[in-house]
Amino acid sequence: MGLNINTIVEIAPGLHLKNPVMSASGTFAYGEEFADFFDLSILGAVVTKGLSLAPKEGNPTPRIVETACGMINSIGLENVGIPAFLRDKLPFLLRFDTRVIVNFFGTTEDEYVRAAEALDTAGVSALEMNVSCPNVKKGGIEFGRDPEALHALVKRVRRACSRPLIVKLSPMVTDIRSVALAVQEARADALTCSNTLPAMAIDEKTRRPVLGNLTGGLSGPAIKPVALKIVWEVSRAVNIPVIASGGIVSAADAVQFLLAGACAVQVGSAGLRDPMCYPVIIDGIRAYLEEHGMQDVSCLVGGLVTD
Ligand SMILES: Cc1cc2nc3c(=O)[nH]c(=O)nc-3n(C[C@H](O)[C@H](O)[C@H](O)COP(=O)(O)O)c2cc1C
Repeated sequence: MGLNINTIVEIAPGLHLKNPVMSASGTFAYGEEFADFFDLSILGAVVTKGLSLAPKEGNPTPRIVETACGMINSIGLENVGIPAFLRDKLPFLLRFDTRVIVNFFGTTEDEYVRAAEALDTAGVSALEMNVSCPNVKKGGIEFGRDPEALHALVKRVRRACSRPLIVKLSPMVTDIRSVALAVQEARADALTCSNTLPAMAIDEKTRRPVLGNLTGGLSGPAIKPVALKIVWEVSRAVNIPVIASGGIVSAADAVQFLLAGACAVQVGSAGLRDPMCYPVIIDGIRAYLEEHGMQDVSCLVGGLVTD
C-alpha cells in the first residue's frame, strides 16, 4: 500500500501550495499556451510574466538564443500592462485550482509602489517583485545590487500591499547574504533565488552579436550549480522561506534545491523545451518521497547532510 504523502508547502505566512512546483516568471506567459498541454490545477502555483503599470513592447529581435546547456533571452520585460492583465488574463488563471503569483517591476520606487497597489486585488495570492531592473533615477544601476536602496524600496512596497510579498534576487551581487538580509529586514515574506545571469552570444560568421539587444540573461541547466549555491547560502542566512529558480529540469534537480533549503521550486526554461516537464517533476518528487519512505515533502527542506 502506498504511503499517505503530504506535498503541501507554506511559502509565506498562511500561503500554502498543494505541491512545491511553480512556473517561473516570463517562461509561462499568462498560462494560456500551457493549458493546452496539461491542467494548470496540478501546479503549486503559476507565476506570471513580469508586469508593469503600462504595457511594454520589449527589445528588438532576435530575443532568444540557445547555448550549451541553456539559453540567453533579451525579451526586455515585454508585457500587457497591469490593467490589461487584470481584465483579460487573470480571469483565465482563476479558472484553475492553483495559486496565482504575479511578478512585477518598475523603473522608479514610485512605479513599484503603484504596481503593488494595483495588484493587491482579489485572486492574486502573492506578489513577486523583480528587482533586477535598472533604476532610472540611479543611472541604470539595478535595484537589487544595493542593499540599502533595496531595503528602502521593499519597505515602501511592503506598506503598499496586504498580500504576501516575495522578492526575487539577482545573482549578480558581491554578497547575496547582505542583500537577502536587507530584504528580510524590510519585512518581505519570502525570497526567490535567483534570476538569470548576464550573458552574450556572438555569430562568428556575421561577426555580430546574436541578440538584437546585444546581451541578455542566461538560464537553464548552465546556471543550476550557481543557483544551488545561492539557495544554500541564503536559506542559512535568513529565516523567511526561500523559493529556488535556476536550471531546474527534473525531479532530481527539484529535490536537490529542497535539500539545499528551498521550500519550493520554479521551473522556467525547461518548460519551453518540454511543457510536460511540469507534471513529470511533480510526479517525480512524490515518487522520490515514496521511495525514501518520507511522508512529508517538508522533511526534505534543508535536509542536506554535510557532516
Ligand atoms: C524568456 C524568459 C523570460 C523571463 N522573464 C522574466 C520576468 O519577466 N521576470 C522575472 O523575474 N524573471 C524572468 N525570467 C527569469 C526566470 O523566471 C527564471 O528566474 C530564470 O530563467 C532561471 O530559471 P530557469 O533556468 O528555470 O529558466 C525570464 C526567463 C526567461 C528564459
